[in-house]
Amino acid sequence: MIKVMTIFGTRPEAIKMAPLVKALEADPQIESIVCVTAQHREMLDQVLDLFKIVPKHDLNIMAAGQTLSDITSRVLKGIESILAVEAPDIILVHGDTTTTFAGALAAFYAQIPVGHVEAGLRSHNIYSPFPEEMNRSLTGRIAVMHFAATEGNVTNLKREGVDETQIIKTGNTVIDALKMVIKEDYVFDDDILNQIDYKNYKTILMTAHRRENLGEPMENIFGAVRAIVDRNEHVQVIFPIHLNPAVREIANKHLKDADRVHLIEPLDYEPFANLEAKVDIILTDSGGIQEEAPALGKPVVVLRTETERPEAVQAGTVVIAGVDKNTIIDITENLILDEKAYEKMAEAVNPYGDGKACLRIVDAIKAQFLHKL
Ligand code: UD1
Ligand code: UDP
Repeated sequence: MIKVMTIFGTRPEAIKMAPLVKALEADPQIESIVCVTAQHREMLDQVLDLFKIVPKHDLNIMAAGQTLSDITSRVLKGIESILAVEAPDIILVHGDTTTTFAGALAAFYAQIPVGHVEAGLRSHNIYSPFPEEMNRSLTGRIAVMHFAATEGNVTNLKREGVDETQIIKTGNTVIDALKMVIKEDYVFDDDILNQIDYKNYKTILMTAHRRENLGEPMENIFGAVRAIVDRNEHVQVIFPIHLNPAVREIANKHLKDADRVHLIEPLDYEPFANLEAKVDIILTDSGGIQEEAPALGKPVVVLRTETERPEAVQAGTVVIAGVDKNTIIDITENLILDEKAYEKMAEAVNPYGDGKACLRIVDAIKAQFLHKL
């Protein structure tokens, strides 16, 4: 059997690794071991519960106010002893978090090959997104198997000199995850979400958490949203607030008492994805949501100055608004008030795959390792 260890620690990694863990577990020629760092605790556990994934190892590292060095050193040290005991044939990490990079580095130190899921995304600005652009570049230097979602991601890797034979174009596993949870006529467990009047109001779903947006950019973002609801009586906002206390403080300052703003706790992935499918517009600085919303035909206003996900921008369903208050207001109000502009952006496009990314990853691992056993 091929021993495959997946390492992940935050909500988005868990969502995008969950269908892969399921595919690994289902394969009789693979022994699947899950190691979580718990860089996120509650938001990770939400995903583990939903997909019924039981980690064999849990580093439980999350601490309030954790710095990048805290996360890196705790992950590195924690994984060292696990790798010594488990000695997997390959470890798989996902994307661009600090868990991703530190997990890959720990495997490199143990001379265990690394597979990088969602490889090849680049903004070409090392400070934006920060520290994710550097995390994924460094993980790419370590990886020997690069599972790239799109042709653009493949091109980025080739430009950096990655050998073509090490790149496998798979599509993004987020589409696999989305297909597992989206249901027609979905009914929310939390009745507040069922009772919201989606018919008579334009509904904006919003998320925000990026480190480089903390401070003034986030003040601008939430200030813009406040102005949008104050100026447009037929607009309401649903905002499941990230558990980062720094985000909560700024959100509460601007939005706590606002009419037609529903500040709620982070949602489980299944209700969140089904809410994405129900609302009119999404405002976000998230990476994963830029991939999900276009597939669901929802216009996305990106609250960042650039994106490493140009595919949906090119397709016309994602627009980069930046972090300037007036620009965010203008772009969002245009979508609220101009039906034609809205319809143009609300076409479903899905540059991120057919929902079979995980099977391709499993097949590639088997092709690489089975003959060596
Ligand atoms: C992390 C990732 C980011 C990813 C994001 C997804 C890094 C450096 N950042 O950013 O790439 O896009 O996750 O959400 O890897 N917290 C809780 N409970 C939770 C989760 C977070 O209380 O379940 C609080 C803790 O106080 C924690 C803080 O949020 O210290 C920040 O978490 P952290 O993982 O450091 O940063 P994120 O901004 O969540
Ligand atoms: N998400 C969720 N509950 C929420 C908000 C987001 O399950 O309340 C999901 C969302 O569908 C997407 C992922 O979390 O798949 C994005 O995670 P996040 O925005 O934290 O990180 P990023 O994608 O920016 O790395």
